[in-house]
Amino acid sequence: MKSRFLAVFQSPLFVGLMLMSCVSLAADDGGLATLRGASIPSAAPASGDALKKAIEDAPLERDFTQQPPLVSHAIDNYPVTKNFNKCLECHSWENYRKKKATKVSQSHFQDADGKERASISPRRYFCVQCHVPQVDAKPLIANTYQRPNTR
Ligand code: HEC
Ligand code: HEC
Repeated sequence: MKSRFLAVFQSPLFVGLMLMSCVSLAADDGGLATLRGASIPSAAPASGDALKKAIEDAPLERDFTQQPPLVSHAIDNYPVTKNFNKCLECHSWENYRKKKATKVSQSHFQDADGKERASISPRRYFCVQCHVPQVDAKPLIANTYQRPNTR
């Protein structure tokens, strides 16, 4: 029993969680909170210019057939927490027209049993699990991946 207890404290996950809670405790500009009540930065609107560019430019190309589309704008100020999802303020079916954003697809309403739900399925709630923004960074390792022609 004792050794199992120690193992928990030594696990990288535990250390990671401790570090994360320190970071969120340090941020204190009000509005939102972590599950344990520490405040996290509030959702200041992203610069209108960046979104304007995303609307005007074509969507980023996909590199493989099943790829979740890449986010074509910055997401620094768009938090997703248990109770609040900033992404849906623009990408939900209620709001997408007004915000000139792409609506989430039908697949995002399907739950784990394949049933259609009236609202976003919990498995699609944490958008950035699958959708990632882009930065202009040099690849760390060269690779020879080619896009398939089957898109
Ligand atoms: C303030 C409104 C707004 C918010 C908040 C927002 N987006 Fe967007 N998003 C847009 C607009 C506008 C576009 C560009 C649509 C277009 O290309 O015409 C876009 C594009 C995208 C695309 C590309 C869609 C495609 O077809 O290629 C993805 C993916 C995306 N957003 C995901 C997210 C995620 C994930 C979040 C939250 C972390 C988020 N967005 C928050 C407005 C928003
Ligand atoms: C489990 C992975 C996953 C999660 C989580 C997820 N998506 Fe997606 N998303 C995808 C995939 C894969 C596609 C492309 C296939 C499809 O349309 O279902 C997609 C497509 C989209 C599109 C493009 C729709 C179109 O018509 O081209 C938008 C916009 C989008 N997602 C937004 C979101 C937002 C906002 C969230 C969070 C509320 C989210 N997604 C959560 C995987 C995910």
